[in-house]
Amino acid sequence: MLIGLGWLVIATGVGAVGIVSILRPPAVPLVLFGLTAVVLGTGWFSTGFRAWLLAIDVRWLVGLHLTRFVGAYFLYLYGRGRLPYAFAVPGGWGDIAVASLAALLLLSGSPARAGRRGAYTLWNLLGLADILFVVVTAARLGVAASESMAALLRLPLSLLPTFLVPLIIASHVVLGVRLARLKRRAVGPSSGVGALWARNVRWLRRSEQSAVHKFSNRARASNKRRRSHVSYKSINFRQKFGLFHEQWQPKVIAEMNDYQFKVVKLQGDFIWHDHKDTDETFIVVEGELRIDLREGAVHVSTGEMFVIPKGVEHKPYAEKEVKLLLIEPRGVLNTGHEGGERTAANDVWI
Ligand code: NI
Repeated sequence: MLIGLGWLVIATGVGAVGIVSILRPPAVPLVLFGLTAVVLGTGWFSTGFRAWLLAIDVRWLVGLHLTRFVGAYFLYLYGRGRLPYAFAVPGGWGDIAVASLAALLLLSGSPARAGRRGAYTLWNLLGLADILFVVVTAARLGVAASESMAALLRLPLSLLPTFLVPLIIASHVVLGVRLARLKRRAVGPSSGVGALWARNVRWLRRSEQSAVHKFSNRARASNKRRRSHVSYKSINFRQKFGLFHEQWQPKVIAEMNDYQFKVVKLQGDFIWHDHKDTDETFIVVEGELRIDLREGAVHVSTGEMFVIPKGVEHKPYAEKEVKLLLIEPRGVLNTGHEGGERTAANDVWI
């Protein structure tokens, strides 16, 4: 956040002293794409930033695009003869359309809701196409007649190539990744006939998966990886817990034979569920956990553990955030066979 603010301040400063306006045509798109690459590269290489990007509500990423109502300003400048038609009119209306559609999408609800993901994906592709068109047009006109595009190199519009457009392009890429991940999670309706249907479909899919799991490519690949690659680094719980903020989303940190070690942060109430085929181990790394069982409750404090036997219904609860290590076989879902919206993505490694 601070880095983002610092960048905005620098971009404004650079625009104010007129450095941007002395850039010659090919330099502007180079700066723009360079900054985009820096943002995406940071997301790729910095685990902290990546975890943040993967955890932030998708609607914030879409909300950023409301800034594209700036297209109206292009039209205004065209009206006053300070920007050429070929850039300002198609670019301006394109951005206004993308910003309006973003507003409509946000009003229509979260992309996690059934049927919304497709609309978000379509909008994302449209928005990316529009911004690339705007950048290419600006670059082309800049090369042909650099004076015609001079308004873009002075404040406030100089913030477009040096700040906003790189963020917009990068956010389209991040949104693409996030929407693809949502597809894998495939959250369905949580009540009524639809939920019953979705639960059965999920159950069938899961039984199918567990039957072929031992022989799946993924399992083979991970066995191979573990055999051939010994990491000489211990795994540190503190460091792992520092990589994410979201609660109720277990992250795999290690495997032993067919068992996975998962770290998770919990707070509040969960749903009643059981695991038909396996016991489940809870180790409290930090905080206080209460596990409600049908016959009573177990309190598990920092440095303590509890094993829930196979088939026993349970419901974790934590008044304040608790940090846990879970040990269970690969493929076990946090909600057992209950399904529903509390089901977290499985096999997510950090
Ligand atoms: Ni459980």
